[in-house]
Amino acid sequence: MKFITVAIVCLVAGLTQGAALSEQVLASAHSQILGNASSILGWQVAGSLQSLAPITQGCQNITSYGHGRWATLGLKPAVIEQAFCVATVRASNSSALALNQIKLAATDMFITQLLHVFGDDPQPSFKWLCNNFNYTAINDELALDSGRIGQAFCANRPYATAWSDPSHEVLIIADPSTYNMASSLFALLYSFSASTPTERWIMCEQYHYMSQAQLQEGINSTIVRSRLCVDHDVPLMPAGNSQLLMTYWFGSIFARQLSLAVNAVDDEEKRAWLCENIQHGDLGLLGMMPGNMFCA
Ligand SMILES: *[C@@H]1O[C@H](CO)[C@@H](O)[C@H](O)[C@H]1NC(C)=O
Ligand SMILES: *[C@@H]1O[C@H](CO)[C@@H](O)[C@H](O)[C@H]1NC(C)=O
Ligand SMILES: *[C@@H]1O[C@H](CO)[C@@H](O)[C@H](O)[C@H]1NC(C)=O
Ligand SMILES: *[C@@H]1O[C@H](CO)[C@@H](O)[C@H](O)[C@H]1NC(C)=O
Ligand SMILES: *[C@@H]1O[C@H](CO)[C@@H](O)[C@H](O)[C@H]1NC(C)=O
Repeated sequence: MKFITVAIVCLVAGLTQGAALSEQVLASAHSQILGNASSILGWQVAGSLQSLAPITQGCQNITSYGHGRWATLGLKPAVIEQAFCVATVRASNSSALALNQIKLAATDMFITQLLHVFGDDPQPSFKWLCNNFNYTAINDELALDSGRIGQAFCANRPYATAWSDPSHEVLIIADPSTYNMASSLFALLYSFSASTPTERWIMCEQYHYMSQAQLQEGINSTIVRSRLCVDHDVPLMPAGNSQLLMTYWFGSIFARQLSLAVNAVDDEEKRAWLCENIQHGDLGLLGMMPGNMFCA
């Protein structure tokens, strides 16, 4: 009897603590997430184009790269165009610049996701993150800016722990799982800009010239080819399916990044903690697949 009472009290406490964030807060976070995802996409494309002409063209009018269609997925054409315009100015060194911009945007995207998945009373969760971050994994495996992440969750907080800024610059994701999921996401978004199967085929032929640079940008070009280089009679993926797949990759990449960032890959206890503390209902509103990432 006593046990049941305690269990009920715990359950009620669990339900009252950490309610969902307001939809307005989540909508603003969602917009930042899509902004950073757009920046990543813009740099992944602009940084791997082999001549100045298409970069200049994209800067003048991104519509020729699928403006209307990318907007359909909720991405931001103006942010994508911005990457092209900056790349025109620094074309001789755009690959190195692109990698730095991708790292920055990917870091900000991860921070925005983390800041908003723990509901409206996130301080205990931030403390947990701060105590569990593995800055070596964040820098070396995920190619994210470990100092920026440490600062976001640990600075000026009573439980502040020392975080480490990247001691050496890592720009390409080493973790194979994240690397290949990020490549699948790119393949999905890039091929979505084709508005007909014929256009997709032309992009496939042109991809030949981009593929080497794509490897340098940390993208598995085999994965891109497998989505882009398909027969004319294979219909384009409808916008709704593409958007669903985008939320699937956003969620899966986030879950993998978080697992590595706090050494939770093989740690049942940590995974249970994440299952319990992440507000699963908010994930969908943040543009990720809702539910079940850590609740096995
Ligand atoms: C990326 O996210 C940060 C917050 O982490 C935000 O300040 C910035 O505006 C976002 N970038 C874009 C292009 O939306
Ligand atoms: C941009 O390109 C699209 C597609 O080629 C074209 O329809 C549109 O008129 C162009 N816009 C401007 C401002 O040149
Ligand atoms: C290229 O850009 C990177 C990163 O912005 C910089 O560190 C490097 O010095 C640049 N190289 C040249 C030749 O400008
Ligand atoms: C932190 O990450 C590094 C690199 O992935 C790994 O070698 C190390 O074992 C991790 N530390 C802990 C405590 O798990
Ligand atoms: C790239 O993707 C292909 C196809 O999925 C896979 O076989 C290969 O192992 C991947 N390469 C790397 C370096 O992960």
